[in-house]
Amino acid sequence: MSRIWTRSFFANSGTECVEAAIKFARGATGRTGIVYCDHAYHGLSYGSLSLTGDKNFRDGFGPLLPDCTSIPFNDLAALEKALVSRQVAAFIVEPIQGKGVNLPDDDFLPAAAALCKRYGTLFVADEIQTGMGRTGRFLAVEHWNVEPDMVLLSKSLSGGHVPVGAVLTRKAIFDKIFDRMDRAVVHGSTFAKNDLAMAAGIATLDVLKTEKLIENAAARGAALLATLSAMVPRYELLKNVRGKGLMIGVEFGPPKSLALKASWSVLETASKGLFCQLITIPLFKDHKILSQVSGHASHTIKLLPSLTITEEDCNWITGAFDSVIESSHRVPGAIWSLGKTLVDNAARKSA
Ligand SMILES: Cc1ncc(COP(=O)(O)O)c(C=O)c1O
Repeated sequence: MSRIWTRSFFANSGTECVEAAIKFARGATGRTGIVYCDHAYHGLSYGSLSLTGDKNFRDGFGPLLPDCTSIPFNDLAALEKALVSRQVAAFIVEPIQGKGVNLPDDDFLPAAAALCKRYGTLFVADEIQTGMGRTGRFLAVEHWNVEPDMVLLSKSLSGGHVPVGAVLTRKAIFDKIFDRMDRAVVHGSTFAKNDLAMAAGIATLDVLKTEKLIENAAARGAALLATLSAMVPRYELLKNVRGKGLMIGVEFGPPKSLALKASWSVLETASKGLFCQLITIPLFKDHKILSQVSGHASHTIKLLPSLTITEEDCNWITGAFDSVIESSHRVPGAIWSLGKTLVDNAARKSA
C-alpha cells in the first residue's frame, strides 16, 4: 500500500485525534457536515461523542455538535444520499466496528471511499482500535485496499504505555490548516508530541517490525478464529465467531432447547445482554482470561489479545472458551447459579 499520509498531527488520546480530524476536515473543505455510522464508537469528548451513536453515552449531555448524521454501517445508498448535498466535510468510519465487532461487506469501504471522492468529502478511517497490526495488517483498511484521506491511531501506538495519538493526513489537508506562521498553533495541546510518547511510539513501531508481530497477529488470529468457529455447531448458545487477525467477536444467542430457553429469558428480561457476563466472569475467574462484552446490551464477547501471543496461549484461550461454553449448556449448573445472582442484583438495583 502506498503511503500517502506524509503529515502527522500528534495528540494524547483517541478522542483528541477525532476532535482534530473534525476540525481539519471542516477547515480543509469549508464544509460543516460529518457523517458517521450507527453503532460507531469514536470517543466521549463533545465532537467525538457527537459521532458516537449509543444513547447510553449521549443521554444527558446534549446538545451535541450540529450537522452530524449517521447512516447504517454497510449501507452505501444511505451514504450517497448523505453526501450528495456536497455539504459533508468528512465521513468517519471504523473499518471494523469495535462495538459488536461488525465487519464491513467486502465492497463497503472501497465504494464508500469512491463516493467520498466523487462528492468532495474526506474519508477518515478511525483505526484507533483496529490499527497497528491488530487485524493482521498494519492498518485494517489494507484488507480492502482503501487509502483514506486521514487515518487515526492511538491506543497501541505507544504499546499501551504512554498516552499518545496520531492523525495521519495528506499534505494538502495539513497545509490548509497550518498555512501561515500565525496559524501554527491553531490546533494542538501542551503535551501533544511529548518526548516520552514519541519515544514509546518509535519503540513500538520497531518492536512490531523486528518481532514480526503483525504476521503473528494474522497467523494466530486465523488459528483462533478457526478453532472457535468450529465450536459453533457444537453449542446451541454459540451463534457466530467473526473477526480479522486478533480482533475477534464471539456471538451468543437464544437457545432452542426448553431448559436453556427458560433460563436465557429470565436473564434477558432482567437485563439484555446479561448472558455474556456468564461467560466473561468464569473466563476471568477460573481461566485468567480478560475478555469484554462488546457494547451495551450486546451478545458478542470481544477478544483483543496481545499481538505477542503464542500458539500455547491460543490453546489456553480456546480450551477455556470450550470449557466455559460447555458448562453454560448445563442447567442447573454453576454458570446458571451465577446467572441467578446477577438477576437478583439487577432486580435489587432497579427496585
Ligand atoms: C475506534 C475508537 N475510536 C476512538 C476511541 C477513543 O479513544 P480514547 O479512549 O483514547 O479517547 C476508541 C476507544 O476505545 C476507539 O475504540
